[in-house]
Amino acid sequence: MFNKVAVITGAGSGIGRATALLFAKKGAKVLVVDLDSKEGSKTVDSIEGHGGEARLVVADVSKASNVQRMVKTILELYGRLDILVNNAGIFTEGSVVETVEEEWDRVLGVNLLGVFLCMKYCIPEMIKGGGGVIVNVGSEAGLVGIRNQVAYNVSKSGVIALTKSTALDFAENNIRVNCLCPGRVLTPLVEKVISDSEDPEATRRILSDDRPLKRMGTPEDIAAGILFLASDETPYATGTVLSIDGGYTAQ
Ligand SMILES: NC(=O)c1ccc[n+]([C@@H]2O[C@H](COP(=O)([O-])OP(=O)(O)OC[C@H]3O[C@@H](n4cnc5c(N)ncnc54)[C@H](O)[C@@H]3O)[C@@H](O)[C@H]2O)c1
Repeated sequence: MFNKVAVITGAGSGIGRATALLFAKKGAKVLVVDLDSKEGSKTVDSIEGHGGEARLVVADVSKASNVQRMVKTILELYGRLDILVNNAGIFTEGSVVETVEEEWDRVLGVNLLGVFLCMKYCIPEMIKGGGGVIVNVGSEAGLVGIRNQVAYNVSKSGVIALTKSTALDFAENNIRVNCLCPGRVLTPLVEKVISDSEDPEATRRILSDDRPLKRMGTPEDIAAGILFLASDETPYATGTVLSIDGGYTAQ
């Protein structure tokens, strides 16, 4: 991974931050992309504090103009881009009946349209550079139905379909596209679900006990899988879906 230019969306927190730190440790030049400039800066500071190289790009992945600006900035800085990790995502609860259209649009806008836009504008630059690797962050919720999170479920199923069809469309351009489906990971996203619940301790226990390994994942558990798919260790993998979920979807 040494010297490769890696773009990681949603790198201001959780899985994205852990991935950015790991990629930088492996010698990548990391573009930390996030809506939140304060948290994105913290990731950059942490990488630089460990002797790595990182730059912040503040962008909303659900807006084409922002994604185009992101790509322009990357090219101005490095002249190429080798790896794209589509990790930015948001979560929401609700059934079909409860979910209002604006919430549906918001979740699919970030989780699905955002992945589409980043691939749409990054792939042409990867082709110019002779190829590239894309890792899309899906979810166990894209593989199995989960009660009361219909918009999130659908967005993550869509990420898997988007991964497979893009892998086919650009295989001949030397672009590999794979999907990593994390199980439940203790990040700010899940911490909020726990703290918003009526009995946070009971919720924390329930969220660990529903999987064979009896714990939630760590951001580092998932970052290791993203690195594996993005690295030269997996040159024959494209269009694949890798689950790292404590055994949840094996049940
Ligand atoms: N935490 C889990 O249990 C879990 C499980 C399965 C899948 N995932 C997926 O992993 C990914 C990361 O999740 P996490 O738990 O680390 O989340 P997180 O909330 O800790 O971090 C997400 C980051 O994305 C950024 N972001 C949100 N919307 C954005 C936008 N429109 N443009 C740019 N940046 C934006 C946020 O500012 C934040 O820094 C998401 O795609 C999520 O759906 C998480």
